[in-house]
Amino acid sequence: MKSNRTKKSYKPVLLVVDDIEDNLDLLEFALKQKPVKLLRAKSGIECLRIAKDKTPDIILLDIQMPEMDGFETLQKLRDNPITSSIPVIMLTAHYKDPESIEKGFKLGADEYITKPVEIEELVVRIRMLIRMKHMKDELDQTKLDYMAMLIHDLRGPLVGITSVVELLKDLKPGAALRQEHFEMFRSADISLQQMLTLVNNFLDLSKYNSDAICLHQEPVPLHMLVEQALQKLEFQFKQKQIELEHRVGRDLPEAYIDAQKTLQVFINLLDNAFKFTERGGAVSISAELRNGTNGRQKNESYIGVSVTDTGMGIDTGEINKLFSPYQQTASAQSISEKGTGLGLSICKLIVEAQGGSISVSSDPGKQTTFYFTLPVAKQN
Ligand SMILES: Nc1ncnc2c1ncn2[C@@H]1O[C@H](COP(=O)(O)OP(=O)(O)OP(=O)(O)O)[C@@H](O)[C@H]1O
Ligand SMILES: [Mg+2]
Repeated sequence: MKSNRTKKSYKPVLLVVDDIEDNLDLLEFALKQKPVKLLRAKSGIECLRIAKDKTPDIILLDIQMPEMDGFETLQKLRDNPITSSIPVIMLTAHYKDPESIEKGFKLGADEYITKPVEIEELVVRIRMLIRMKHMKDELDQTKLDYMAMLIHDLRGPLVGITSVVELLKDLKPGAALRQEHFEMFRSADISLQQMLTLVNNFLDLSKYNSDAICLHQEPVPLHMLVEQALQKLEFQFKQKQIELEHRVGRDLPEAYIDAQKTLQVFINLLDNAFKFTERGGAVSISAELRNGTNGRQKNESYIGVSVTDTGMGIDTGEINKLFSPYQQTASAQSISEKGTGLGLSICKLIVEAQGGSISVSSDPGKQTTFYFTLPVAKQN
């Protein structure tokens, strides 16, 4: 649930700290018509008290004050978990030297502005800092939500494994294993695989999200990479009697890609095609050389890859959300092979990191095509 503080009509609360009353009056007067609510503090100590009790959205902190100066006040604000993340703008007339500015930033100041205060500039900075704070808060919340979902998703398979161990631990040493025991091992194995996939996907996603993806790009013959992907999945496709067609020509120029990560894209897309296609359906992979705009590149050659299946498809209204983590279509919830909704977001991060783009088109009940682009290796 979003807090009141993110609503459009909400007036941000600004705590202004200055030991000179005239300065406070002046700012209060200048900000009268602006969309901010003002709180005043005449000393560092008063600032700490009000900041703790009222948690303002932003603090405008004078540096030169008797007893506790702005630096010490800032240090104490940052040391208290209640006030540590409130954005602080340092206000200075005398401390314009680089050392003071550096000292303020080191202590956790977000901005510096100099006196006399330019009101329009102050309002813009306040707005910017508050927007950044909201974005950070939302990101923190998303991280927490991911963690909660991960733990929730791990619980299912873990409960499955626990019940298998419970049943097997009563076996006497030397007792012969019966058919049902082997079935239990198989079910525990499936649960373990689910947990491993989930943890790997989650780690990949957070790794790819947090830093720029580390790519080892090199010229790669695409038909070989596709063969590698097909080899990994051939057996399960055969079992479900889904025809698997490899239509990537050997004459296609080499792609300039990170082979391992692009293999992960193929496997994720094939795994989806497998899950969402009924017994007796068909899946095909094709690729062709194209020219035009591809992700960041304009008027360049690139390789366009299509993975097409004859499965259940995706309703138009649900297409846009699928490349975001944990998003699944309503119809996908009903199939037995449960996933976590991370596969496509990982594909998107990998494809885009290599300068390409990924999209999907679907005719529900007939066919679905995931399409992505890859850069072409330069010919010598
Ligand atoms: N080929 C497809 N046909 C129909 N729906 C699809 C297809 N591929 C993906 N989807 C839909 O997109 C959702 C997200 O796919 P994604 O690969 O991100 O997650 P997942 O397959 O559910 O789980 P995971 O890949 O993490 O195991 C799927 O749950 C499904 O609803
Ligand atoms: Mg998937």
